[in-house]
Amino acid sequence: MIPNLPDYARLIKDRVGLHFDNAMEALLESALSRRMAEQEISNYYEYYERLRISQDEFDSFVTLITINETYFFRESDTLDLICDKWVPRLLQQRSGPVRILSAGCSSGEEAYSLAIKLHEKYQNGMAQQVEIYGCDIDPVILAKARNACYSSYSFRGVEPLIQQRYFTRTGNLFRLHDEIREKVSFHRTNIIKEQLLPEVDIILLRNVSIYFDTPTRRELHGNLLKMLQPQGALFFGNAETLANNFDILKLEQEEGIFYFCHHREAPKVAPVPRVAVRVPLPRAPVVCEPPAPTVLQCDDWLKKARACLDEKCFSEAEACIACVLRNDPRNQEALLIQGVIALEQREFSQTAGNAQKILAQDEWSAEAKMLLGLAMMWQHQTQQAIAWFKQVVYQEPGYWPAHYYLAEMYRQSELRQPAQRTYRVVMQLLNDEMNNPATVCRLRLPMVFPGNTFRFLCEHQLAQFAHQNG
Ligand SMILES: C[S@@+](CC[C@H](N)C(=O)[O-])C[C@H]1O[C@@H](n2cnc3c(N)ncnc32)[C@H](O)[C@@H]1O
Repeated sequence: MIPNLPDYARLIKDRVGLHFDNAMEALLESALSRRMAEQEISNYYEYYERLRISQDEFDSFVTLITINETYFFRESDTLDLICDKWVPRLLQQRSGPVRILSAGCSSGEEAYSLAIKLHEKYQNGMAQQVEIYGCDIDPVILAKARNACYSSYSFRGVEPLIQQRYFTRTGNLFRLHDEIREKVSFHRTNIIKEQLLPEVDIILLRNVSIYFDTPTRRELHGNLLKMLQPQGALFFGNAETLANNFDILKLEQEEGIFYFCHHREAPKVAPVPRVAVRVPLPRAPVVCEPPAPTVLQCDDWLKKARACLDEKCFSEAEACIACVLRNDPRNQEALLIQGVIALEQREFSQTAGNAQKILAQDEWSAEAKMLLGLAMMWQHQTQQAIAWFKQVVYQEPGYWPAHYYLAEMYRQSELRQPAQRTYRVVMQLLNDEMNNPATVCRLRLPMVFPGNTFRFLCEHQLAQFAHQNG
């Protein structure tokens, strides 16, 4: 038990953006016990002061709390799009080198995967016109990236031929050939606060923002925007993109892959899927300041909460929900809306807690099960997510968003046949819905899933499968 846990959480968030929820607490505890033992400090308050004052100590500590999970050719279709479309297009537009940044690069697999792909495609010609950079907050992992020596764990899903062509085996490790290693340079950068270099054409920020809360992700967008060339693109991991859609940058997609770029005209309301209130409410009455805590009846508070949620005014939505729950702590709709707000803010334990409270009252609440599935999915607890989404589709076989996320989870678990089958079910349900809108199956979940975009994603995934099946 860390008595001054909030102090540590605040310090870490302020310095590097990492947000501590319940799941991360164990990581923090183990990091603290290790560093405190090494420093021969037994008092949490004393160690906190050391951490606050000493940058060296903070550097040694940060390496213990970062999650560096990565591997070669992760979500490879994004890398293909960059190599096959973006790089040649940018080089057609101008002569200078194309700059690509792998932000939160961990041990370098992402940046090197790009270098390998570019080399495969263009050999030394075009590849020489591309500069690849990697940056990370963790100095230890950066040393590993520069060393470019990997265990077989980093090669999940890598074609043996590529591994043989670009790596030399030494014992249990595989060393990347210098020819590729030298194409990437690695730097220590805090991506929340610092800009590594100007005029970057492509920024990959994949599987990093999941550790930040919403305000930090917004701040991060603002910071990355300053680095991004006017024609450039910012790519998140597939599952992260929607949670990063703040309309600071414009969301675009190409070949089913989403990315952000500069607004070319005045920003408008985001045209793509994002969590939003389903019930359309007039915009004018949306109050983005804490409401006075009386008078309005629960229904009005709930309406207001939904409207605030739609406007992404989370703390205001929370305040409205608090008014309802003060009167009626078991109000299922309030618990549901609060669960969605928590999901948006990546506070998954709160989402799960709310969903469980609803299930305690109504074991057939498909909404609560859907929330649990989404919360598990976002935490990469794929098997649990599958279990929840399956329950939703058994109960509500016409609810295509549950089928869609189930398909996604199958795909991520390499369950190719079930994934393809389930994507087809989604397409079928979307077609039925288009032909006969009266048959649409909805849940009372205050989230919107735009059918067109999801249809596109299904088509894309099915095409990928078809391509892989030859
Ligand atoms: C899970 S890894 C992602 C690696 C790679 N991008 C991928 O998708 O496979 C997340 C990395 O983000 C880094 N990171 C976390 N906060 C950061 C910050 N504020 N600035 C730079 N890097 C950060 C961590 O050190 C970690 O190596």
